Amino acid sequence: MANRVRFFDTTLRDGEQTPGVTFHLNEKVDFAKRLDKLGVDVIEAGFAGSSKGDFEAVSAISRAVNTGVCSLARCTEADIRACADALKEAKKPRIHVFIATSPVHREAKLHMDRQQVLEAAVRCVSLAKSLCSEVQFSAEDATRTELDFLYEIYTAAANAGATILNIPDTVGYATVQEYGDLVADIHKKVVGTREDIILSTHCHNDLGLAVATSLEGLRRGARQVECTINGLGERAGNAALEEIVMGLRTRKDYYGLEDNIRIKEIYRISRLAAGMSGMEVSPGKAIVGANAFVHQSGVHQHGVLNNRATYEIMKPEELGIPQGSMVLGKLSGRHALREHAMELGFQLTDHELNRAFNKFKELCDRKKDVTDRDVMAICREQMHGVAGSYTMNSFQIFSGNKMTSTATVSLQKGPEIITRADCGDGPVEACFRAVDQITKRKCSLESYQLRAVTEGEDALGEVTVRVRYQELVMLGKGVSTDVIEASCLAYLNAVNRILEALEEQKQPGESC
Ligand code: KIV
Ligand code: ZN
Repeated sequence: MANRVRFFDTTLRDGEQTPGVTFHLNEKVDFAKRLDKLGVDVIEAGFAGSSKGDFEAVSAISRAVNTGVCSLARCTEADIRACADALKEAKKPRIHVFIATSPVHREAKLHMDRQQVLEAAVRCVSLAKSLCSEVQFSAEDATRTELDFLYEIYTAAANAGATILNIPDTVGYATVQEYGDLVADIHKKVVGTREDIILSTHCHNDLGLAVATSLEGLRRGARQVECTINGLGERAGNAALEEIVMGLRTRKDYYGLEDNIRIKEIYRISRLAAGMSGMEVSPGKAIVGANAFVHQSGVHQHGVLNNRATYEIMKPEELGIPQGSMVLGKLSGRHALREHAMELGFQLTDHELNRAFNKFKELCDRKKDVTDRDVMAICREQMHGVAGSYTMNSFQIFSGNKMTSTATVSLQKGPEIITRADCGDGPVEACFRAVDQITKRKCSLESYQLRAVTEGEDALGEVTVRVRYQELVMLGKGVSTDVIEASCLAYLNAVNRILEALEEQKQPGESC
């Protein structure tokens, strides 16, 4: 058996099923390019048959990257044809056909018996194979499916042309050992001597075991692992890519497996996924959490100072985690910022660079040391921006513990500056209401997160908000050393996205 593991990233498909998360088309394309840079073998770009937005995302990503691009399809002709159309320009296209196989899904969801599920799987894999050179088949809820039926359906799918057989632990039910046994059994009974077939893991984290089950699946014969950045995904999420790759690398002595991931990109893509999804990584999260390499106790600090290997099994700099060095100063120019942003993985357009540079200059006046982490936060904010119709001109607040907070906000739209005042429960709410008055849209705040980018009193605050207007929910991002300003900018960013989406809805859409 070959020992190379293929990484299949499904952040843009299963990851987008995280409650409350939707990605913008531009964000998806940027993220896919970053995944390409990370070295993943396949990007699951969406579910082309499910919506016009997903169809467009699969098409745009197919054009934008060189690595494999996959689109998910239910077992229907319409879904499979939509995948084939959306993948037309992909360099390495793949259609991923799935159907549920467990008794509870067959009875309660599909209302089909085993024979009907089997026939549908064969029919759809055959159709997919006639339209695309590479076909993957998943038996949804495989870990709660009768073993004999699983062997039968995987064998039939392979005979119909599927060369990647994915084994989803859809509800994170399997124990680590059970999952490993299942992979080994399917390998023995279905794959046998067929070298063209690859088994794949797809594990959910309902019992906190997704990474462990994935690694065990790889140890027992799978050669593709499906995962998401930061473990994003439905309910408790999917297996986290960064944890799997570092598990394989750190314990190569145990797994003996190879992969093509460029681990230097891990931190950057993790921050991008957190920013894009609005799902901040918990500080204690393995590999990319803020505390993952922090040594608090004196004994540990002493040990690490003598020899890092005492308490560190990985090197943070190898994962691209900035080490807090001072990078640019007051006298640095636009060119230096562009170069440095590029080193950190941000390719800014001229417009983004101009805005980032203004922000950087402001920051140099407000903050003693500008570090890599500050530059990354500024770049993320700019890349999250839209060519919004409103920009922040100024704001003023009047607030205290025994009074109603009021805010006066001035926004610029074209040449016009519009100023409104409003009050609220605290200065942040007062600012948001004043923005609503100017834009004439009564939006509501669904979530608000504030994160300090670096340590210290002059740290940059990065605010992420989720804002609703009728059916539209958009994420916004703002960065400043002043948390009220960061909040206002984040809210305005989300509102600009809402306005842009409303504008797009007015235009007649193309049909897919
Ligand atoms: O969890 C699951 O079963 C899935 C399939 C569609 C592969 O995401
Ligand atoms: Zn899944």
